[in-house]
Amino acid sequence: MSELTKNAGAEAAPKKVFIKTWGCQMNVYDSMRMGDALEAEGYAPTQDMDDADLVLLNTCHIRERAAEKVYSHLGRIRQLKKRRADTDRPLTIGVMGCVAQAEGEEIIKREQAVDLVVGPQTYHRIGEVVRASKTGPQVITDYAVEDKFEHMPLATKRQITARGVTAFLTVQEGCDKFCTFCVVPYTRGAEVSRPRAQILTEARALVDAGVREITLLGQNVNAWHGDSRTGTVMGLGDLLRELAEVRGIARLRYVTSHPKDMSNDLIEAHRDLPTLMPYLHLPVQAGSDRVLKAMNRSHTAAHYLDIIARVRKVRPDMAISGDFIVGFPGETDADFEETLKIVEATNYASCFSFKYSKRPGTPGAEMADQVAEEVKSERLLRLQGLLNEQQLAFNAGCIGKTVDVLLEKPGRHEDQLIGRSPWLQSVIVPSSVGAIGDIVSVTIDAAHANSLSAMPVGPINAEEAAA
Ligand code: 5AD
Ligand code: SF4
Repeated sequence: MSELTKNAGAEAAPKKVFIKTWGCQMNVYDSMRMGDALEAEGYAPTQDMDDADLVLLNTCHIRERAAEKVYSHLGRIRQLKKRRADTDRPLTIGVMGCVAQAEGEEIIKREQAVDLVVGPQTYHRIGEVVRASKTGPQVITDYAVEDKFEHMPLATKRQITARGVTAFLTVQEGCDKFCTFCVVPYTRGAEVSRPRAQILTEARALVDAGVREITLLGQNVNAWHGDSRTGTVMGLGDLLRELAEVRGIARLRYVTSHPKDMSNDLIEAHRDLPTLMPYLHLPVQAGSDRVLKAMNRSHTAAHYLDIIARVRKVRPDMAISGDFIVGFPGETDADFEETLKIVEATNYASCFSFKYSKRPGTPGAEMADQVAEEVKSERLLRLQGLLNEQQLAFNAGCIGKTVDVLLEKPGRHEDQLIGRSPWLQSVIVPSSVGAIGDIVSVTIDAAHANSLSAMPVGPINAEEAAA
Protein backbone atom coordinates (compact mmCIF):
# COMPACT_ATOMS: atom_id res chain seq x y z
CA MET A 1 0.00 0.00 0.00
CA SER A 2 1.41 3.43 -0.87
CA GLU A 3 1.96 6.19 1.68
CA LEU A 4 -0.89 8.10 0.13
CA THR A 5 -3.40 5.30 0.45
CA LYS A 6 -2.22 4.61 3.99
CA ASN A 7 -2.92 8.20 4.95
CA ALA A 8 -6.26 8.20 3.21
CA GLY A 9 -7.06 5.00 5.11
CA ALA A 10 -6.88 6.83 8.45
CA GLU A 11 -10.36 8.22 7.83
CA ALA A 12 -11.94 5.96 5.22
CA ALA A 13 -11.05 2.64 3.59
CA PRO A 14 -8.76 3.26 0.58
CA LYS A 15 -10.49 3.38 -2.76
CA LYS A 16 -9.70 0.60 -5.18
CA VAL A 17 -9.32 0.47 -8.95
CA PHE A 18 -9.80 -2.56 -11.18
CA ILE A 19 -8.40 -2.27 -14.72
CA LYS A 20 -9.26 -4.77 -17.45
CA THR A 21 -7.11 -4.65 -20.55
CA TRP A 22 -7.78 -5.86 -24.07
CA GLY A 23 -5.62 -5.58 -27.19
CA CYS A 24 -1.96 -5.06 -27.77
CA GLN A 25 1.01 -4.75 -25.42
CA MET A 26 0.77 -0.98 -25.70
CA ASN A 27 -2.55 -1.18 -23.93
CA VAL A 28 -0.98 -3.40 -21.27
CA TYR A 29 1.71 -0.75 -20.76
CA ASP A 30 -0.84 2.09 -20.69
CA SER A 31 -2.92 0.24 -18.08
CA MET A 32 0.13 -0.06 -15.85
CA ARG A 33 0.94 3.63 -16.20
CA MET A 34 -2.69 4.55 -15.42
CA GLY A 35 -2.67 2.24 -12.41
CA ASP A 36 0.53 3.92 -11.18
CA ALA A 37 -0.97 7.40 -11.69
CA LEU A 38 -4.17 6.43 -9.87
CA GLU A 39 -2.23 4.93 -6.99
CA ALA A 40 -0.73 8.39 -6.48
CA GLU A 41 -4.35 9.66 -6.33
CA GLY A 42 -5.19 7.23 -3.53
CA TYR A 43 -6.55 4.26 -5.51
CA ALA A 44 -5.07 0.89 -4.54
CA PRO A 45 -5.08 -1.71 -7.33
CA THR A 46 -7.40 -4.71 -7.00
CA GLN A 47 -7.77 -7.85 -9.10
CA ASP A 48 -11.37 -8.26 -7.93
CA MET A 49 -13.88 -6.15 -9.84
CA ASP A 50 -16.55 -6.65 -7.16
CA ASP A 51 -14.27 -4.97 -4.66
CA ALA A 52 -13.50 -1.90 -6.81
CA ASP A 53 -14.70 1.71 -6.53
CA LEU A 54 -13.44 2.47 -10.02
CA VAL A 55 -13.55 0.04 -12.95
CA LEU A 56 -11.58 0.96 -16.07
CA LEU A 57 -11.89 -1.00 -19.30
CA ASN A 58 -8.88 -0.37 -21.50
CA THR A 59 -10.21 -1.34 -24.87
CA CYS A 60 -9.11 -2.43 -28.34
CA HIS A 61 -10.83 -1.49 -31.60
CA ILE A 62 -8.71 -3.41 -34.05
CA ARG A 63 -11.36 -5.97 -35.01
CA GLU A 64 -15.12 -5.91 -34.69
CA ARG A 65 -15.28 -8.63 -32.06
CA ALA A 66 -12.84 -6.72 -29.83
CA ALA A 67 -15.23 -3.73 -29.63
CA GLU A 68 -18.34 -5.91 -29.15
CA LYS A 69 -16.70 -7.63 -26.18
CA VAL A 70 -16.45 -4.26 -24.46
CA TYR A 71 -20.18 -3.63 -24.73
CA SER A 72 -21.12 -7.06 -23.45
CA HIS A 73 -18.76 -6.53 -20.53
CA LEU A 74 -20.30 -3.15 -19.79
CA GLY A 75 -23.71 -4.78 -19.55
CA ARG A 76 -22.45 -6.96 -16.71
CA ILE A 77 -20.72 -4.10 -14.89
CA ARG A 78 -23.94 -2.07 -15.07
CA GLN A 79 -25.53 -4.66 -12.75
CA LEU A 80 -22.75 -4.16 -10.22
CA LYS A 81 -23.20 -0.40 -10.42
CA LYS A 82 -26.93 -0.79 -9.78
CA ARG A 83 -26.30 -2.89 -6.67
CA ARG A 84 -23.88 -0.26 -5.38
CA ALA A 85 -26.07 2.74 -6.16
CA ASP A 86 -27.48 3.26 -2.68
CA THR A 87 -24.44 2.17 -0.72
CA ASP A 88 -21.51 4.23 0.54
CA ARG A 89 -19.39 2.76 -2.26
CA PRO A 90 -20.90 3.92 -5.54
CA LEU A 91 -19.14 2.53 -8.59
CA THR A 92 -17.46 4.69 -11.24
CA ILE A 93 -17.01 3.14 -14.70
CA GLY A 94 -14.52 4.31 -17.31
CA VAL A 95 -13.92 3.23 -20.90
CA MET A 96 -10.38 3.93 -22.04
CA GLY A 97 -8.32 2.97 -25.06
CA CYS A 98 -9.07 2.68 -28.73
CA VAL A 99 -12.83 2.04 -28.51
CA ALA A 100 -13.06 5.18 -26.36
CA GLN A 101 -11.17 7.15 -29.00
CA ALA A 102 -13.18 5.78 -31.91
CA GLU A 103 -16.68 5.87 -30.40
CA GLY A 104 -16.45 8.77 -27.94
CA GLU A 105 -19.87 9.94 -26.79
CA GLU A 106 -21.59 7.03 -28.54
CA ILE A 107 -20.43 4.84 -25.66
CA ILE A 108 -22.33 6.85 -23.08
CA LYS A 109 -25.40 6.99 -25.34
CA ARG A 110 -25.33 3.23 -25.73
CA GLU A 111 -24.41 2.46 -22.11
CA GLN A 112 -25.47 5.15 -19.67
CA ALA A 113 -23.74 3.51 -16.73
CA VAL A 114 -20.41 4.77 -18.10
CA ASP A 115 -19.01 7.82 -16.26
CA LEU A 116 -15.89 8.55 -18.27
CA VAL A 117 -14.57 7.92 -21.76
CA VAL A 118 -10.89 8.73 -22.28
CA GLY A 119 -8.81 8.15 -25.42
CA PRO A 120 -5.19 6.92 -25.35
CA GLN A 121 -3.62 10.35 -25.86
CA THR A 122 -4.97 11.86 -22.63
CA TYR A 123 -4.16 9.37 -19.88
CA HIS A 124 -2.03 11.90 -18.04
CA ARG A 125 -5.32 13.59 -17.09
CA ILE A 126 -6.83 10.42 -15.61
CA GLY A 127 -6.89 11.61 -11.98
CA GLU A 128 -8.57 14.89 -12.83
CA VAL A 129 -11.11 13.23 -15.15
CA VAL A 130 -12.08 10.63 -12.52
CA ARG A 131 -12.69 13.46 -10.03
CA ALA A 132 -14.70 15.48 -12.55
CA SER A 133 -16.87 12.45 -13.38
CA LYS A 134 -18.48 12.71 -9.93
CA THR A 135 -20.39 15.72 -11.26
CA GLY A 136 -21.35 14.29 -14.67
CA PRO A 137 -20.10 12.11 -17.54
CA GLN A 138 -16.74 13.05 -19.05
CA VAL A 139 -15.69 12.38 -22.64
CA ILE A 140 -12.05 13.23 -23.44
CA THR A 141 -10.97 12.16 -26.89
CA ASP A 142 -9.04 15.18 -28.14
CA TYR A 143 -5.49 14.61 -29.30
CA ALA A 144 -3.47 16.17 -26.50
CA VAL A 145 -0.52 18.23 -27.64
CA GLU A 146 1.49 17.62 -24.49
CA ASP A 147 3.49 14.42 -24.17
CA LYS A 148 1.32 12.19 -21.99
CA PHE A 149 4.19 10.13 -20.56
CA GLU A 150 6.10 13.28 -19.62
CA HIS A 151 3.12 14.25 -17.48
CA MET A 152 2.55 10.88 -15.80
CA PRO A 153 4.44 9.77 -12.69
CA LEU A 154 7.21 7.22 -13.26
CA ALA A 155 6.45 3.89 -11.61
CA THR A 156 8.00 3.51 -8.18
CA LYS A 157 10.60 0.83 -7.49
CA ARG A 158 8.02 -1.16 -5.55
CA GLN A 159 5.49 -1.00 -8.39
CA ILE A 160 8.08 -2.14 -10.96
CA THR A 161 9.45 -4.95 -8.79
CA ALA A 162 5.94 -6.29 -8.20
CA ARG A 163 5.55 -6.77 -11.97
CA GLY A 164 8.50 -9.07 -12.39
CA VAL A 165 11.76 -9.24 -14.28
CA THR A 166 10.47 -8.36 -17.74
CA ALA A 167 8.95 -5.01 -18.64
CA PHE A 168 7.41 -3.08 -21.51
CA LEU A 169 8.55 0.41 -22.39
CA THR A 170 6.55 2.37 -24.96
CA VAL A 171 8.93 4.40 -27.13
CA GLN A 172 6.66 5.28 -30.05
CA GLU A 173 2.95 5.66 -30.60
CA GLY A 174 0.65 6.14 -33.53
CA CYS A 175 0.79 5.41 -37.21
CA ASP A 176 1.12 7.41 -40.44
CA LYS A 177 1.01 4.41 -42.77
CA PHE A 178 -2.77 4.19 -43.28
CA CYS A 179 -3.09 0.54 -44.24
CA THR A 180 -6.59 0.42 -45.67
CA PHE A 181 -7.82 -2.22 -43.19
CA CYS A 182 -6.62 -0.54 -40.03
CA VAL A 183 -8.11 1.79 -37.40
CA VAL A 184 -4.84 2.56 -35.65
CA PRO A 185 -4.09 5.85 -37.46
CA TYR A 186 -7.53 7.04 -36.34
CA THR A 187 -7.43 5.75 -32.76
CA ARG A 188 -3.79 6.37 -31.90
CA GLY A 189 -3.09 9.36 -34.14
CA ALA A 190 0.08 10.28 -36.01
CA GLU A 191 3.48 8.70 -35.36
CA VAL A 192 5.16 10.23 -32.32
CA SER A 193 8.49 9.15 -30.83
CA ARG A 194 9.29 9.61 -27.15
CA PRO A 195 12.54 11.51 -26.56
CA ARG A 196 15.69 9.45 -26.04
CA ALA A 197 16.44 10.90 -22.59
CA GLN A 198 12.97 9.99 -21.29
CA ILE A 199 13.39 6.42 -22.53
CA LEU A 200 16.85 6.03 -20.97
CA THR A 201 15.60 7.38 -17.64
CA GLU A 202 12.72 4.92 -17.63
CA ALA A 203 14.98 2.03 -18.67
CA ARG A 204 17.38 2.81 -15.81
CA ALA A 205 14.50 2.92 -13.34
CA LEU A 206 13.34 -0.49 -14.59
CA VAL A 207 16.73 -2.18 -14.19
CA ASP A 208 17.26 -0.51 -10.80
CA ALA A 209 14.10 -2.28 -9.67
CA GLY A 210 15.31 -5.68 -10.90
CA VAL A 211 14.04 -5.81 -14.50
CA ARG A 212 16.33 -7.92 -16.73
CA GLU A 213 14.50 -7.78 -20.05
CA ILE A 214 12.92 -4.72 -21.68
CA THR A 215 10.61 -4.85 -24.68
CA LEU A 216 10.38 -1.53 -26.50
CA LEU A 217 6.86 -0.96 -27.77
CA GLY A 218 5.37 1.03 -30.60
CA GLN A 219 2.66 0.59 -33.22
CA ASN A 220 5.54 1.26 -35.61
CA VAL A 221 8.40 0.80 -33.21
CA ASN A 222 11.06 0.75 -35.92
CA ALA A 223 9.90 4.19 -37.10
CA TRP A 224 11.25 5.53 -33.78
CA HIS A 225 13.59 8.46 -34.26
CA GLY A 226 15.01 11.11 -32.00
CA ASP A 227 17.87 13.47 -31.31
CA SER A 228 21.11 12.09 -29.98
CA ARG A 229 23.06 13.77 -27.20
CA THR A 230 24.96 15.72 -29.84
CA GLY A 231 21.84 16.69 -31.78
CA THR A 232 22.16 14.24 -34.69
CA VAL A 233 19.16 12.16 -35.77
CA MET A 234 18.98 8.68 -34.28
CA GLY A 235 16.96 5.65 -35.33
CA LEU A 236 15.85 2.57 -33.38
CA GLY A 237 19.17 0.81 -34.06
CA ASP A 238 21.05 3.67 -32.33
CA LEU A 239 18.59 3.67 -29.44
CA LEU A 240 19.08 -0.08 -28.96
CA ARG A 241 22.86 0.42 -29.00
CA GLU A 242 22.55 3.01 -26.21
CA LEU A 243 20.17 0.87 -24.18
CA ALA A 244 22.50 -2.10 -24.50
CA GLU A 245 25.08 -0.02 -22.59
CA VAL A 246 22.77 0.46 -19.59
CA ARG A 247 24.20 -1.70 -16.82
CA GLY A 248 21.89 -4.48 -15.78
CA ILE A 249 19.90 -4.83 -19.01
CA ALA A 250 20.35 -8.44 -20.02
CA ARG A 251 17.87 -8.62 -22.87
CA LEU A 252 16.24 -6.20 -25.32
CA ARG A 253 13.33 -6.77 -27.67
CA TYR A 254 11.09 -4.51 -29.76
CA VAL A 255 7.65 -4.86 -31.30
CA THR A 256 5.82 -4.14 -33.73
CA SER A 257 7.77 -3.30 -36.85
CA HIS A 258 6.78 -2.26 -40.37
CA PRO A 259 8.82 -3.52 -43.36
CA LYS A 260 9.13 0.03 -44.69
CA ASP A 261 11.11 1.14 -41.61
CA MET A 262 13.41 -1.89 -41.37
CA SER A 263 16.65 0.06 -41.81
CA ASN A 264 20.09 -1.42 -42.43
CA ASP A 265 21.22 0.04 -39.15
CA LEU A 266 18.50 -1.82 -37.25
CA ILE A 267 19.38 -5.04 -39.06
CA GLU A 268 23.05 -4.49 -38.16
CA ALA A 269 22.09 -3.96 -34.51
CA HIS A 270 21.01 -7.62 -34.56
CA ARG A 271 24.51 -8.51 -35.74
CA ASP A 272 26.27 -6.33 -33.16
CA LEU A 273 24.25 -6.57 -29.94
CA PRO A 274 24.17 -9.88 -28.06
CA THR A 275 21.57 -8.35 -25.72
CA LEU A 276 19.19 -7.83 -28.65
CA MET A 277 17.24 -11.07 -28.82
CA PRO A 278 17.13 -12.95 -32.15
CA TYR A 279 13.42 -12.48 -32.66
CA LEU A 280 11.67 -10.24 -35.14
CA HIS A 281 7.94 -9.62 -35.34
CA LEU A 282 7.48 -8.29 -38.86
CA PRO A 283 3.91 -8.44 -40.13
CA VAL A 284 3.44 -8.84 -43.88
CA GLN A 285 -0.39 -9.32 -43.81
CA ALA A 286 -0.64 -11.02 -47.25
CA GLY A 287 1.52 -12.60 -49.94
CA SER A 288 -0.08 -11.24 -53.11
CA ASP A 289 1.35 -7.98 -54.44
CA ARG A 290 -2.08 -7.02 -55.74
CA VAL A 291 -3.60 -7.40 -52.25
CA LEU A 292 -0.62 -5.68 -50.62
CA LYS A 293 -1.20 -2.74 -52.95
CA ALA A 294 -4.91 -2.62 -52.11
CA MET A 295 -3.93 -2.72 -48.44
CA ASN A 296 -1.62 0.29 -49.06
CA ARG A 297 1.26 -1.61 -47.51
CA SER A 298 3.95 0.16 -49.60
CA HIS A 299 6.00 -3.02 -50.00
CA THR A 300 5.87 -6.13 -52.15
CA ALA A 301 6.24 -9.78 -51.17
CA ALA A 302 9.74 -9.78 -52.68
CA HIS A 303 10.73 -6.72 -50.63
CA TYR A 304 9.57 -8.49 -47.45
CA LEU A 305 11.45 -11.70 -48.27
CA ASP A 306 14.56 -9.66 -49.01
CA ILE A 307 14.40 -8.10 -45.51
CA ILE A 308 14.00 -11.53 -43.94
CA ALA A 309 17.01 -12.83 -45.91
CA ARG A 310 19.16 -9.86 -44.83
CA VAL A 311 18.16 -10.25 -41.19
CA ARG A 312 18.94 -13.97 -41.27
CA LYS A 313 22.27 -13.29 -42.95
CA VAL A 314 23.48 -11.22 -39.97
CA ARG A 315 21.74 -13.38 -37.37
CA PRO A 316 21.23 -16.92 -38.70
CA ASP A 317 19.30 -18.03 -35.59
CA MET A 318 16.68 -15.28 -36.00
CA ALA A 319 13.11 -16.37 -35.28
CA ILE A 320 10.53 -14.59 -37.42
CA SER A 321 6.95 -13.94 -36.45
CA GLY A 322 4.22 -12.02 -38.21
CA ASP A 323 0.58 -11.09 -38.67
CA PHE A 324 -1.72 -12.16 -41.50
CA ILE A 325 -5.15 -11.10 -42.66
CA VAL A 326 -7.18 -13.43 -44.87
CA GLY A 327 -10.16 -12.35 -46.95
CA PHE A 328 -9.22 -8.72 -47.51
CA PRO A 329 -11.68 -7.27 -50.10
CA GLY A 330 -10.89 -8.57 -53.56
CA GLU A 331 -8.64 -11.42 -52.36
CA THR A 332 -9.03 -14.33 -54.81
CA ASP A 333 -8.09 -17.97 -54.33
CA ALA A 334 -4.96 -17.29 -56.38
CA ASP A 335 -4.06 -14.33 -54.12
CA PHE A 336 -4.52 -16.52 -51.07
CA GLU A 337 -2.16 -19.13 -52.55
CA GLU A 338 0.47 -16.36 -52.62
CA THR A 339 -0.05 -15.91 -48.88
CA LEU A 340 0.64 -19.60 -48.33
CA LYS A 341 3.74 -19.24 -50.51
CA ILE A 342 5.18 -16.39 -48.48
CA VAL A 343 4.58 -18.42 -45.32
CA GLU A 344 6.44 -21.36 -46.87
CA ALA A 345 9.28 -19.10 -47.94
CA THR A 346 9.63 -17.34 -44.58
CA ASN A 347 9.23 -20.31 -42.25
CA TYR A 348 7.77 -18.63 -39.16
CA ALA A 349 8.47 -19.44 -35.52
CA SER A 350 5.03 -18.14 -34.54
CA CYS A 351 2.32 -15.99 -36.07
CA PHE A 352 -1.00 -14.27 -35.57
CA SER A 353 -3.63 -14.60 -38.27
CA PHE A 354 -7.07 -13.06 -38.59
CA LYS A 355 -10.10 -12.93 -40.82
CA TYR A 356 -10.48 -9.48 -42.34
CA SER A 357 -12.88 -7.44 -40.23
CA LYS A 358 -14.59 -4.39 -41.69
CA ARG A 359 -13.75 -1.33 -39.62
CA PRO A 360 -15.99 1.72 -39.98
CA GLY A 361 -14.14 4.74 -41.33
CA THR A 362 -11.34 2.77 -43.00
CA PRO A 363 -11.07 2.59 -46.83
CA GLY A 364 -11.30 -1.22 -46.76
CA ALA A 365 -14.80 -1.08 -45.33
CA GLU A 366 -15.99 0.80 -48.44
CA MET A 367 -14.33 -1.52 -50.96
CA ALA A 368 -16.39 -3.63 -53.34
CA ASP A 369 -15.71 -7.41 -53.48
CA GLN A 370 -15.97 -8.06 -49.76
CA VAL A 371 -15.11 -11.73 -49.26
CA ALA A 372 -17.79 -14.09 -47.93
CA GLU A 373 -17.44 -15.15 -44.30
CA GLU A 374 -17.27 -18.89 -45.17
CA VAL A 375 -14.44 -18.25 -47.61
CA LYS A 376 -12.55 -16.29 -44.95
CA SER A 377 -13.06 -19.11 -42.46
CA GLU A 378 -11.79 -21.75 -44.90
CA ARG A 379 -8.71 -19.71 -45.75
CA LEU A 380 -7.96 -18.99 -42.11
CA LEU A 381 -8.16 -22.69 -41.29
CA ARG A 382 -5.70 -23.58 -44.06
CA LEU A 383 -3.33 -20.77 -43.13
CA GLN A 384 -3.39 -21.60 -39.45
CA GLY A 385 -2.79 -25.27 -40.24
CA LEU A 386 0.42 -24.33 -42.04
CA LEU A 387 1.50 -21.78 -39.39
CA ASN A 388 0.92 -24.28 -36.59
CA GLU A 389 3.02 -26.87 -38.44
CA GLN A 390 5.84 -24.35 -38.73
CA GLN A 391 5.60 -23.37 -35.07
CA LEU A 392 5.70 -26.99 -33.99
CA ALA A 393 8.68 -27.67 -36.26
CA PHE A 394 10.47 -24.61 -34.90
CA ASN A 395 9.90 -25.77 -31.33
CA ALA A 396 10.88 -29.38 -32.13
CA GLY A 397 14.08 -28.07 -33.71
CA CYS A 398 15.12 -26.79 -30.27
CA ILE A 399 15.24 -30.27 -28.72
CA GLY A 400 18.78 -31.14 -27.66
CA LYS A 401 19.96 -27.51 -27.87
CA THR A 402 21.50 -25.73 -24.91
CA VAL A 403 19.64 -22.47 -24.53
CA ASP A 404 19.86 -19.42 -22.24
CA VAL A 405 16.58 -18.97 -20.42
CA LEU A 406 15.51 -15.95 -18.37
CA LEU A 407 13.61 -17.28 -15.36
CA GLU A 408 10.40 -15.26 -15.06
CA LYS A 409 7.86 -16.82 -12.71
CA PRO A 410 6.80 -19.89 -10.72
CA GLY A 411 5.46 -22.80 -12.73
CA ARG A 412 2.22 -24.69 -12.23
CA HIS A 413 3.99 -27.17 -9.94
CA GLU A 414 6.03 -26.12 -6.93
CA ASP A 415 9.24 -27.60 -8.28
CA GLN A 416 8.98 -25.75 -11.61
CA LEU A 417 9.82 -22.31 -12.92
CA ILE A 418 8.81 -20.76 -16.22
CA GLY A 419 11.32 -18.85 -18.28
CA ARG A 420 11.76 -17.47 -21.80
CA SER A 421 14.11 -18.59 -24.50
CA PRO A 422 15.80 -15.98 -26.70
CA TRP A 423 13.10 -16.84 -29.29
CA LEU A 424 10.27 -15.94 -26.91
CA GLN A 425 9.20 -19.52 -26.21
CA SER A 426 8.01 -20.35 -22.70
CA VAL A 427 10.39 -22.87 -21.15
CA ILE A 428 9.42 -25.00 -18.16
CA VAL A 429 12.47 -25.81 -16.02
CA PRO A 430 13.07 -27.53 -12.65
CA SER A 431 13.15 -24.83 -9.95
CA SER A 432 16.57 -26.09 -8.83
CA VAL A 433 18.20 -24.43 -11.86
CA GLY A 434 18.10 -20.93 -10.39
CA ALA A 435 16.03 -18.05 -9.08
CA ILE A 436 13.60 -15.72 -10.83
CA GLY A 437 15.65 -13.09 -12.67
CA ASP A 438 18.58 -15.44 -13.39
CA ILE A 439 19.57 -16.33 -16.92
CA VAL A 440 20.42 -20.02 -16.88
CA SER A 441 21.72 -22.34 -19.51
CA VAL A 442 19.48 -25.40 -19.92
CA THR A 443 19.09 -28.23 -22.38
CA ILE A 444 15.74 -28.49 -24.13
CA ASP A 445 14.36 -32.02 -23.74
CA ALA A 446 10.79 -31.68 -25.04
CA ALA A 447 8.80 -29.44 -27.34
CA HIS A 448 5.07 -28.75 -27.30
CA ALA A 449 2.85 -26.51 -29.40
CA ASN A 450 3.24 -23.48 -27.12
CA SER A 451 6.13 -24.28 -24.82
CA LEU A 452 9.36 -26.18 -24.29
CA SER A 453 10.68 -28.04 -21.29
CA ALA A 454 14.31 -28.27 -20.27
CA MET A 455 16.84 -29.95 -18.00
CA PRO A 456 19.65 -28.21 -16.16
CA VAL A 457 23.10 -27.89 -17.66
CA GLY A 458 24.33 -25.48 -14.99
CA PRO A 459 23.55 -21.91 -14.06
CA ILE A 460 25.59 -19.19 -15.71
CA ASN A 461 26.28 -15.70 -14.54
CA ALA A 462 23.55 -13.39 -15.80
CA GLU A 463 26.01 -10.56 -16.62
CA GLU A 464 28.05 -12.96 -18.72
CA ALA A 465 24.95 -14.04 -20.58
CA ALA A 466 24.33 -10.41 -21.43
CA ALA A 467 27.92 -9.64 -22.45
N1 5AD B 1 -9.24 -7.02 -39.74
C1 5AD B 1 -8.49 -8.09 -39.37
N2 5AD B 1 -7.27 -7.98 -38.82
C2 5AD B 1 -6.78 -6.74 -38.64
N3 5AD B 1 -5.61 -6.32 -38.14
C3 5AD B 1 -5.61 -4.98 -38.15
N4 5AD B 1 -6.77 -4.51 -38.68
C4 5AD B 1 -7.51 -5.59 -38.99
C5 5AD B 1 -8.79 -5.77 -39.57
N5 5AD B 1 -9.54 -4.74 -39.95
C6 5AD B 1 -4.54 -7.22 -37.72
C7 5AD B 1 -3.26 -7.00 -38.53
C8 5AD B 1 -2.37 -6.28 -37.57
C9 5AD B 1 -2.80 -6.89 -36.27
C10 5AD B 1 -2.42 -6.12 -35.06
O1 5AD B 1 -4.21 -6.97 -36.37
O2 5AD B 1 -2.74 -8.25 -38.90
O3 5AD B 1 -1.00 -6.46 -37.85
FE1 SF4 C 1 -6.04 -2.57 -30.46
FE2 SF4 C 1 -4.56 -1.23 -32.18
FE3 SF4 C 1 -5.55 0.03 -30.13
FE4 SF4 C 1 -3.59 -1.76 -29.75
S1 SF4 C 1 -3.48 0.18 -30.88
S2 SF4 C 1 -5.42 -1.58 -28.57
S3 SF4 C 1 -4.14 -3.27 -31.34
S4 SF4 C 1 -6.69 -0.89 -31.81
